[in-house]
Amino acid sequence: MTERIVLAYSGGLDTSVAIGWIHDATGADVIACAVDVGQGGEDLEVIRQRALDCGAVEAYVADARDEFASEYCMPALKANALYMDAYPVVSALSRPVIAKHLVKAAKKYGASAVAHGCTGKGNDQVRFEVSITSLAPGLQCIAPVRDLALTRDKAIDYAEKHNLPITTTKHNPFSIDQNVWGRAIETGFLEDIWNEPTKDVYNYTDDPAFPPVADELVLTFDHGIPVAIDGRAVSPLEAIQEMNRRAGAQGIGRIDIVEDRLVGIKSREIYEAPGAMALIEAHRELERVTLEREQGRFKREVQDRWTDLVYDGQWFSPLKRSLEAFIEETQRYVSGDVRLRLHGGRATVTGRRSDASLYDFNLATYDEGDTFDQSHAKGFIEIYGLGSKQATARDEKFGHGPSLDPDASNKGENE
Ligand code: ARG
Repeated sequence: MTERIVLAYSGGLDTSVAIGWIHDATGADVIACAVDVGQGGEDLEVIRQRALDCGAVEAYVADARDEFASEYCMPALKANALYMDAYPVVSALSRPVIAKHLVKAAKKYGASAVAHGCTGKGNDQVRFEVSITSLAPGLQCIAPVRDLALTRDKAIDYAEKHNLPITTTKHNPFSIDQNVWGRAIETGFLEDIWNEPTKDVYNYTDDPAFPPVADELVLTFDHGIPVAIDGRAVSPLEAIQEMNRRAGAQGIGRIDIVEDRLVGIKSREIYEAPGAMALIEAHRELERVTLEREQGRFKREVQDRWTDLVYDGQWFSPLKRSLEAFIEETQRYVSGDVRLRLHGGRATVTGRRSDASLYDFNLATYDEGDTFDQSHAKGFIEIYGLGSKQATARDEKFGHGPSLDPDASNKGENE
């Protein structure tokens, strides 16, 4: 029987050419698999047909939108996932769910390998292949662009020579990856990191400099997940979609950063993630109200590690799973309402309430009748500062006491 290879198919030039290119290089039949992670854009039935027209023996579309929103975006929200404190891991989240569907397809069609359209310079090749082999250790991975010398110019020539039903242009300025959690734009003139992004870079967001009137809404969370907007029940997918629309209209969630790739390269990337950024803002505030201080402090360490693992392609790793168990436990009381004001590029929390709140008005108030016994503070401070006080006494004994002279302290010297 002829060997079979499942290809992650996007409908674009590179993966359209890859169908014939892989067949020519390996003799294998190619099965195209497109995964819907809410990227919008072209009709997926059109994409499926194009794969067949480009020579795929089978082509199919997996609707993974709800699965992606519930099982990938929601864990990222619970983790307030922002790589380098900025990037809501948009592309990093979609790779493992796409990989899962590729592996499913490989099993279904008896394929021996899975192929993807990534280059050899980015994170996505790592994420695909580490995910694929974590799910199915026996499967081979092929990246035609990296392994079979499929350059862009060769792809254009191939498409023209074979009359493939795809528009070829040598002048496509950007490389774009998008899904319901956000959109990533790179290359072209953005590679000069001094260049400001032009208007045509953006698609999920309107210009925050010219916003419509402010939009106010109440998000209801249950165990860290948004379950209603203004009292209307929503699924995770619907919550993200509605927030994309409303926060996008206000220009919220535009991000422009130079980021550290796993493979050692710094790259400039523009992101748009209006829904994700607004949801994270609200979720984080609800955690401030419902998590105990030390628990919240430790969670921030855990969630940063979780985010790094996800960025680095370790979605299916044991450590990520263990950290997730911790994060999940912290969400026990992250339920309640957050009021958000969306305006001019910012999502601002203007109110919060929760039955599980740790905020106690009677403890916090500076008005008459508070329940906090201030006399306890004196002894607490005595003990809390004791270690440092003892150390200073010792420093003085050795002539290294703290200098109160402003000039000396600038030099970092005490004597
Ligand atoms: N740099 C981002 C990441 O590694 C996005 C990569 C997505 N690709 C793109 N064509 N912009 O997650």
